[in-house]
Amino acid sequence: MNHIHTDANLTLTRRLRRLRRSEAMRAMVRETRLSPDMFVLPLFVCEGEGVRREVPSMPGVCNLSVDEAVKEADAAKADGIRSVLLFGLPDHKDDIGSTAYDPEAPVQCAVRAIKQQAPDLLVITDVCLCEYTDHGHCGIVIDEEIANDPTVDQLVRAAISHAAAGADIVAPSDMMDGRVGAIRTALDERGFENTAIMSYSAKYCSAFYGPFREAAASAPAFGDRRSHQMDPANAAEALREVEQDIHEGADIVMVKPAMAYLDVIARVKDAFHYPTAAYHVSGEYAMLKAAARNGWLDEQRAMMETLIAIRRAGADIIITYYAREAARALA
Ligand code: PBG
Repeated sequence: MNHIHTDANLTLTRRLRRLRRSEAMRAMVRETRLSPDMFVLPLFVCEGEGVRREVPSMPGVCNLSVDEAVKEADAAKADGIRSVLLFGLPDHKDDIGSTAYDPEAPVQCAVRAIKQQAPDLLVITDVCLCEYTDHGHCGIVIDEEIANDPTVDQLVRAAISHAAAGADIVAPSDMMDGRVGAIRTALDERGFENTAIMSYSAKYCSAFYGPFREAAASAPAFGDRRSHQMDPANAAEALREVEQDIHEGADIVMVKPAMAYLDVIARVKDAFHYPTAAYHVSGEYAMLKAAARNGWLDEQRAMMETLIAIRRAGADIIITYYAREAARALA
């Protein structure tokens, strides 16, 4: 095994290193490429004016009031980003998440303001109740359980109000059963048949959402999300979730998180050939930022390697807090 061949007669007809000799050669045979077109930048929209508050566990990511969110979207556009994903941080929360469908809530205001400032920027809205309930759960809690069908009714109201504000795509992230079909039907009934649905289809119950819950103040006050988000051990089940969402009318399906679920991304893409998004989540971003800040990783290289891996696995769309930095690196 440890033999070093120095035999001059060794005939190696296949030398894979030939195609790695120069950057031009490597670029010519490169199998996977990234483009800013495929990046989606998440934005956390809060109340107030002139607010730009950095999330401690997510360096470079801020809670932004509507006016600042518009500036951020504009700056992202200048970097080459073509779509943003909005999360709302309302001041008022209650046990049914009613601010989720308030036309004057941060997300609805931000959709209108961004669409006015930059009409060609795609605006996607996250549809869930966890940012809107006082207990931080993704739905209406009845007898200590998240009640599926009453929650779906609330999600439908939220999705309609996002579409009415002008969202191009609504993105249900709650993992209730039947929400995609209910949202599709309700949108169509109200003349929003052109509003697309990007479904968080295979969303795992993940520790990697930790920093997001700090950013969105949406950590559950009791219990966890295991009754609706997926068990990290399951991949075949992800295919069933995706199949169901496609059947119910999802235009784009999503796997989330990304790095620890590259196999799931690949299987979903192979099985359905559908537009597939992957969410490179808050914890994945925070890990890279923390290591880079300690001087333990070359951040730019680690960022690009991560994003290219997600793309190579099969993602067509990558939702990432690194969207602007990656777009600038590609420019
Ligand atoms: C729920 C939602 C979450 C994320 C996106 N949508 C949090 C959760 O399920 O607890 C996580 C995103 C991230 O970690 O970056 N509205």
